[in-house]
Amino acid sequence: MEVVIVPDAAAGGELIAEAMAALLRRTPDALLGVATGSTPLPVYQALAARVRAGAVDASRARVCQLDEYVGLPAGHPESYRSVVLREVVDPLGLSPKAFMGPDGAAADVQAACAAYDAALAAAGGVDLQLLGIGTDGHIGFNEPCSSLASRTRIKTLTEQTRVDNARFFDGDIEQVPRHVITQGIGTILEARHLVLLATGEGKAEAVAQTVEGPVAAVVPASALQLHPHATVVVDEAAASKLK
Ligand code: F6R
Repeated sequence: MEVVIVPDAAAGGELIAEAMAALLRRTPDALLGVATGSTPLPVYQALAARVRAGAVDASRARVCQLDEYVGLPAGHPESYRSVVLREVVDPLGLSPKAFMGPDGAAADVQAACAAYDAALAAAGGVDLQLLGIGTDGHIGFNEPCSSLASRTRIKTLTEQTRVDNARFFDGDIEQVPRHVITQGIGTILEARHLVLLATGEGKAEAVAQTVEGPVAAVVPASALQLHPHATVVVDEAAASKLK
């Protein structure tokens, strides 16, 4: 695992956007796995700026979601499908056909999970998976004590994660869905390159346990230690509890 400490979130965004741009120059139809939440936004903004400036051609790039809320109505602005379309697909000028994600509105959620794992494999696997990290150490929505071998499946969000995400739902925890579909940790580990971005002091404890603690299901992000090509990008605040 490689750990890169950057001064701030904007610098982390630039660094990872450049890694994505370099990947797209080598592999124009690379499959980029994208996380949602606040942390990755500087990455998407920096990558879109490179596309606008002509520094990289993303027209053949493909994008896939990491996770999705279950039960939000189609087109809800906070469904992760809507977020990825708004923050990634549109700014990069991609066709919505270049984008895939799990169906959080499926009548048969388990079948939708299996179908998503199959679709990722049929697409040739994820070339670079961008990850955020929860304050409790989750990646995707693999909450603490998720199996390190897990596949895409339905999960129940912890109270802490629902509190953390209420800011996207007018601050009202009751509006935050209780269930999600998430790529499993085993699924995530199949990506060829994992890049985790963590910014702010609130992530410092989770980062320290991820990087310096034992590999343990109680800290799902610690599974990155098992991956042959994992990069953890942290700003100084998120690095503040590293030894
Ligand atoms: C969402 C996801 C989550 C977030 C995490 C941190 O797709 O994968 O693991 O990355 O909850 O969220 P932020 O960045 O909002 O602190």
